[in-house]
Amino acid sequence: MNDINTYIKQNKNRFLEELIDLLKIPSISADPKYKSDVLEAAEIIKKRLEEAGVDHAEICETEGYPIVFAEKIIDRSLPTVLVYGHYDVQPADPIDLWSSGPFEPVIKKTDLHPEGAIFARGACDDKGQMYMHIKAFELMMNTKTLPCNVKFMIEGEEEVGSDSLEGFVQENHKKLAADVILISDTGMIANDIPSVTTGLRGLSYVEVEITGPNRDLHSGLYGGAVANPINILTQMIASLQDEQNKVTIPGFYDDVKELSEEERTEMAQAPFDLNAYKNALNLSDIHGEKGYSTMERNSIRPTLDVNGIWGGYTGEGAKTVIPSKAFAKISMRLVPGQDPDKITKLFIEHFKSIAPSSVKVEITPHHGGMPYVAPTNDTGFKAASMAMEETFGKKPVPVRSGGSIPIVALFEQELKIKSILLGFGLDSDAIHSPNEHFGLFNYFKGIETIPRFFKHFTDLKTKS
Ligand code: BES
Ligand code: MN
Ligand code: MN
Repeated sequence: MNDINTYIKQNKNRFLEELIDLLKIPSISADPKYKSDVLEAAEIIKKRLEEAGVDHAEICETEGYPIVFAEKIIDRSLPTVLVYGHYDVQPADPIDLWSSGPFEPVIKKTDLHPEGAIFARGACDDKGQMYMHIKAFELMMNTKTLPCNVKFMIEGEEEVGSDSLEGFVQENHKKLAADVILISDTGMIANDIPSVTTGLRGLSYVEVEITGPNRDLHSGLYGGAVANPINILTQMIASLQDEQNKVTIPGFYDDVKELSEEERTEMAQAPFDLNAYKNALNLSDIHGEKGYSTMERNSIRPTLDVNGIWGGYTGEGAKTVIPSKAFAKISMRLVPGQDPDKITKLFIEHFKSIAPSSVKVEITPHHGGMPYVAPTNDTGFKAASMAMEETFGKKPVPVRSGGSIPIVALFEQELKIKSILLGFGLDSDAIHSPNEHFGLFNYFKGIETIPRFFKHFTDLKTKS
């Protein structure tokens, strides 16, 4: 296993330069302006996979952005690991808040990354973490230590709901056949507290539009006599949570699988420093559902959050106006038991029912996703745990994450394959935010840990 560290040492600079090149491409899937960049990122991934030594790599066209598929089959009787990741990134705005260009990667030291971190959109989510797998594969090929078969499925629409991947998975059961899916698109607790993610939240996402009068009105001539859609919308939204910060939509909690006291006690063992948490976010106090800890609130409990709200006059100076319309985007994070379609329906019914007759309500559902929980007693988890223990010198802590990767539940449903969420990012890496970064320590630890996962997974599988 010393091979691994020697190979990384000898190729460190190139590993970094290749990632930097990839990060220079603004592969923003949400904005059609960047279409050619998203496509270019797919081409580069394909080329890099070929250079790393796959049997063949292909660009699988879809109605949206393509999926890069590649495989190296060494022996059909050996296990197969399917690696999933995404090459698309979130939009970079607000650009003003970046201290360097989002697509001009630079390496800077931070408190949590004294060895340096690479700053760029997608550095952690998910180009940096996805690229660790291509480099770990190259390493196993060149040191002749690849112990099993490997497939890669790298998509370009994760940040916009994985619409095309859904169909691709449904139509390609055979092509994607594998014993485990390995994903690095989550995080860990800290660089000295390794963890393996054992759950993801689901998602229901809606956009609401409230219409009052048929045009913007003078707020003196009409104010007080007609419904102001912004006033109404904010009242309606405020009523969606009660004084205990519980969601008031009838039936919202009906299907939630509550954790047992034992599971909650076990969860509370994971290290968590509330003061550090508050300080990092410059919060004077925390906030959330009564009766639950901060860690529970952001992982095993469902939530409702307004992601954006707009309407009326927001320009310079004052304009006295009652707007015709008001809008909001609202997301609900879901936990095991809850079904996104059902929750969306409950939201729509409830939201319409609380609207006064003086306004019209229109609700558009967006993409959603099922929650996911991973077992902690199967081969995949054991292999991940052994691999991390070797590279970090400590057993990883199992942690349920609050984020969502909707396609993971579909992998299980369609392909009957469990996913291992072996993430190396930190919550403080600012994914989706200005100044996203990924620690160099984390990048190289990932490249070091992945081959060990492959080895342990193969050993455990072939022995059993
Ligand atoms: N990689 C993230 C999800 C994530 C990050 C999970 C950290 C756990 C820890 C993924 O790219 C993402 O951003 N997912 C979206 C949902 C998607 C449908 C846009 C999310 O969680 O908001
Ligand atoms: Mn991601
Ligand atoms: Mn993301």
